[in-house]
Amino acid sequence: MLARGVWITTERRGNLVLRQPNWWCPAPLGRLVLRTLLNGARRFGSVLPVSPVRLVRRGSSAVLVQRYVSAARPLRRLTVNELANPYTRLAICRFWAAVERCWQETGWLPDVGGRVYFPWELYVPLRTDNVVLDTSGECWLVDVGATAIFHCARWPTARLHAALMLGAIRRCSVALDCANAAAGYGVIL
Ligand SMILES: Nc1ncnc2c1ncn2[C@@H]1O[C@H](COP(=O)(O)OP(=O)(O)OP(=O)(O)O)[C@@H](O)[C@H]1O
Ligand SMILES: [Mg+2]
Repeated sequence: MLARGVWITTERRGNLVLRQPNWWCPAPLGRLVLRTLLNGARRFGSVLPVSPVRLVRRGSSAVLVQRYVSAARPLRRLTVNELANPYTRLAICRFWAAVERCWQETGWLPDVGGRVYFPWELYVPLRTDNVVLDTSGECWLVDVGATAIFHCARWPTARLHAALMLGAIRRCSVALDCANAAAGYGVIL
């Protein structure tokens, strides 16, 4: 999200990810952005696997601390061989089903499509780097930002975005399920 990139820095420190306001970010705005991210993490964490997030005080400022999902790989980095693994395909399908539930139950759609590096990757869910696969084969949403306004069902633009994204996710799930069925693995959702 632009506001986040400008006002908030994201850095990895050991097995943690820290998000904190840049020095030029006015304190009330910094608190608002961090609080918005925390709310997003809580909202999505009720339905989806989200890497745990907490807000801690640091002097007069605050820092959002998130567990780094170690050795995890963003979906966009998965190789063709990795995507040929039926359990990986299944884990991705399960995650997409949870995203759909998230929209239905909370009225919010997490930013599972970001970040978009090329225009032709818009609405291509497997090109996201906000969703990662860990070594035990589970998918996690690691980026809980970019959803302050634009991803809420109250907004017509968000409803259009959700319709396009959920359509893309369903097509992706069908393709992965078909690939599993062709490889002799049934659909286990
Ligand atoms: N907790 C985490 N565990 C594992 N990987 C992470 C974690 N947080 C971030 N990453 C990796 O670092 C990348 C950048 O982090 P993030 O998506 O939160 O910020 P960003 O992409 O810079 O911001 P934006 O998507 O809003 O432009 C993620 O896409 C993900 O691949
Ligand atoms: Mg991101």
